[in-house]
Amino acid sequence: MHQKTIDEAKKRLFNGQLVIFPTETVYGIGANANNLQAIELIYEIKERPISNPLICHFANLNQIEKDFILKEKDYELASVFWPGPLTLILEKKQSSQISHLVSNNQKLVGCRIPNNKIALNLLSILDFPLAAPSANIATRTSTTSIKDLDDNLKKIFYIDGGASVLGLESTVIQTTSDGCKILRLGSLTIEEIKNKFSHYIININGSKISPGNQKKHYSPVKPIRINVDYVKENETLLNYGKNKLNSNIKNMNLSKDEDLIEASHNFYHYLNILDKTDCASIAVAPIPEVGLGKTINDRLKRATYKDKKLFNN
Ligand code: TXA
Ligand code: MG
Repeated sequence: MHQKTIDEAKKRLFNGQLVIFPTETVYGIGANANNLQAIELIYEIKERPISNPLICHFANLNQIEKDFILKEKDYELASVFWPGPLTLILEKKQSSQISHLVSNNQKLVGCRIPNNKIALNLLSILDFPLAAPSANIATRTSTTSIKDLDDNLKKIFYIDGGASVLGLESTVIQTTSDGCKILRLGSLTIEEIKNKFSHYIININGSKISPGNQKKHYSPVKPIRINVDYVKENETLLNYGKNKLNSNIKNMNLSKDEDLIEASHNFYHYLNILDKTDCASIAVAPIPEVGLGKTINDRLKRATYKDKKLFNN
């Protein structure tokens, strides 16, 4: 990455402007987390209600410790999964300069250290964290490549870091005295957490869910039909594995080899391609409900949710 681009991004962020930058999960729209007006711009351009808080991105753990109180289990998860697709809900210190608008006035803020060279390079030369939601209009699919950016968001200064390596958002987690609660499924799987911390009690149906868990979210423009065993005349197909399913209009296969890592990487980009075709709806083949498949199915279920007005976020 050209240093000039990073320097330009730094200048803009310092001046309260927005910058779209790559992470290993999906692209983010970043703003100085300490700057109220800059945070307002994010909510405005994303058409996102302020009741849905933003994630703060940091270069390293020292930076996080300046602003937040970490408990023992936060340190345990952080030491294994950061930098990476883990967002921890942490308690802000009284002394923190982070804008209240980042977390809708709550003391609890989602924090993560992304595992992407460009993001880390940028974060390490800033003297403030970056508040950054996914770079999409609220309720729509996240963006894993600059060419999939919504036209409205293309006006923002962006850093092109190629295709996002993982392709699904981070896993949002709040630690508890005996383990943790999963507030949003993501790129870090429950199986990976259990592997490292077999003694953790992991609650996946926590009563306090992340607003990003609202029913209508992560949705293409076209209606989608999931778990299909046939494809209609006027449908495109998002396929998985080897089977006899076929669309007359367009077929995209998330992973012929049934590799869920490959499927996650392709997921949003392929949905975007199918969304742009002249089809009535998108048919989606069954995805196994294990590991990353759980996250993909979670996003698919939300994308099928009909009432856009009720869940416009
Ligand atoms: O991978 C990712 O997480 C990407 C990249 C850019 O880092 N970001 C992302 O941000 O997906 P966003 O804003 O689209 O989703 C953040 C999720 C939402 O579901 C939000 O409700 C939840 O995190 N969240 C953030 N702060 C929270 C808090 N204080 N309490 C509960 N949930 C929170
Ligand atoms: Mg999002």
